[in-house]
Amino acid sequence: MERFSRSIDLDGKMWREDLAVNRAWAQALREAGLLTVAEEKKIQRGLRAIKKEFRLSRFVFLPEDEDIHVAMERRLTELIGATGAKIHTGRSRNDQVVTDFRLYLKRRVPELQAVLRALVEALIAHAEATQAIILPAYTHTQQAQPIRLAHYLLSLCFALQRHDEQLRQFVERIDEMPLGCGAVAGTAFPIDRKKLAAALGFKRVMQNAIDATGTRSFCGEIVFICSDIGTTLSRYAHDFILWSTQEFGFIDLGEKFATGSSMMPNKKNPDAFELVRGKAGTLLGLLTGMMALQKGIPATYSRDLQEDKRLVFEALQCAEDCLLVFAGALETLRFRAGNMFAR
Ligand code: ARG
Repeated sequence: MERFSRSIDLDGKMWREDLAVNRAWAQALREAGLLTVAEEKKIQRGLRAIKKEFRLSRFVFLPEDEDIHVAMERRLTELIGATGAKIHTGRSRNDQVVTDFRLYLKRRVPELQAVLRALVEALIAHAEATQAIILPAYTHTQQAQPIRLAHYLLSLCFALQRHDEQLRQFVERIDEMPLGCGAVAGTAFPIDRKKLAAALGFKRVMQNAIDATGTRSFCGEIVFICSDIGTTLSRYAHDFILWSTQEFGFIDLGEKFATGSSMMPNKKNPDAFELVRGKAGTLLGLLTGMMALQKGIPATYSRDLQEDKRLVFEALQCAEDCLLVFAGALETLRFRAGNMFAR
């Protein structure tokens, strides 16, 4: 059961956020008169020491550390004694975990956007360099109108820029603080949540504690955007796969992003694009999982929700990898303008 119950391998990623939440909470407790100035100082000192341990990769997770929140409090109490346990006053892991998660996504999603923008830049550079190249556009996999290669490449740019906008809007929407909502219905202590939100860099405070601790709509939304990115890339990957065949001969794949066959030296397999296409299926599975997770439980926190991070983290990594590999494969392939024109 202990192994089954542990989520530290996943939520350990959120140590920066958990520390920030602890530091802001300690200050809020002192301001509410629940900690003395000396107690808060002691706690802040302990939290600074823990930060250093994480920074130097010296923080040791113990088998009994179920999740990042438990690990933090355990270590704080080890370092400064019983005062450490007071940090849990007036809060629950239920409001803590979604606060960490929203903070984490506010930091992580812009990283995905940067990778996405790098692919947009690469496409624009290719479009600029290949303006003279003409090829047939296909509908129903049948030849349709003649187009410039640049027109085709830029069509992916437009799609990606829409995804960039979806991500921007997502970050804007999740920028509200659940902390102070307790397990389900708030905290009995006079915590200044507006001040707390400002200290943590949240734009707004979540208004309804039941909603704040129970909703995982934002998880479904980010996994959907990742899955949408995967689906877009999959459509374009499919074209590049067709274009790499002997029959089309529109592109020559770079060696680093393809594999050969010792038995059939004529082969150069478009693995990068095939994997991108395949992972779009994986992403769709994660989305189904994320929605099913919420569908199956009552309105407020149930432990099922711990699975949210597995699905969201995997979706973010998968979408990012697809973008990186697509960009790499694009950068290393050669367009065969003669063949494109000849068709
Ligand atoms: N590790 C848990 C999660 O990710 C934290 C919340 C646990 N809350 C509880 N009441 N057991 O959801």
